[in-house]
Amino acid sequence: MDLNGKVALVTGGAQGIGQVIGEELARLGVHVILGDVNGEGAEKTADAINETGGSAEGAKLDVTSPEEVKEVFKNIIKKSGQLDILVNNAGITRDGLLMRMKEHDWDLVLSVNLKGSFLCTQLAVKQMMKQKNGSIVNIASIVGLMGNFGQANHSASKAGLIGLTKTAAREVGSRGIRVNAIAPGFIDTDMTRCLDEKAREKLIEQIPMAQLGQPEDIADCVAFLVSEKAKYITGQVIGVNGGMLM
Ligand code: NAI
Repeated sequence: MDLNGKVALVTGGAQGIGQVIGEELARLGVHVILGDVNGEGAEKTADAINETGGSAEGAKLDVTSPEEVKEVFKNIIKKSGQLDILVNNAGITRDGLLMRMKEHDWDLVLSVNLKGSFLCTQLAVKQMMKQKNGSIVNIASIVGLMGNFGQANHSASKAGLIGLTKTAAREVGSRGIRVNAIAPGFIDTDMTRCLDEKAREKLIEQIPMAQLGQPEDIADCVAFLVSEKAKYITGQVIGVNGGMLM
């Protein structure tokens, strides 16, 4: 897959899945902007990519802030003149049983995972329409398809993101822009490392491939979806979950 000369924004790119997506896209020749609320972390990750021969920059970006989103997009277009790929990856969890879930935790998760993706998608589409070309990948979740104990907010946000994916795909398909979602199963990152050993074991019992996924599994799927190899794929939700949901 050759993505030489393309420009991508990966939100939540300082660490975890977003970091590895950034690394993989850079390896394939993409100039990557890692936007993260942890601006310093994003810079560090970008430095590491540049040291290994890739091309990347870090940007402080809180996806819930329309002003910050606008500023980052403005800078990308000013500097690079184009935006070919957007990966809406920034996401958080604030788990708790539905009965006890604080309104604040509901709002926060919906705001980062769903509203943040909406704000970024809107501006990306604006630029991609001018180019008559572009690809957007939304990192949803298996829990957006099947629900999960203690994750009313997270699963609702990811189900919403799947709805956003399909509507955007319908609205911009004729303009040469594709929009897809990936629904990862449980992936070995900080987000899942907080699970205790027992919860981890129980989880693995539900996965036919008997292991958690790696961030690379998601990054490979992103690379495929944004490449020419996926040129007739839009509005889809690709499960990358070791068979946990079929
Ligand atoms: P992580 O916690 O390791 O990384 C998330 C990144 O997003 C961090 O760098 C964080 O600073 C950034 N971030 C948080 N709030 C932000 C905001 N308001 N604006 C910009 N950046 C922000 O998490 P991980 O595991 O890498 O998750 C990445 C995405 O994958 C998330 O959307 C998550 O919901 C999704 N996912 C993860 C799964 C897993 O098992 N790890 C499973 C299914 C989906």
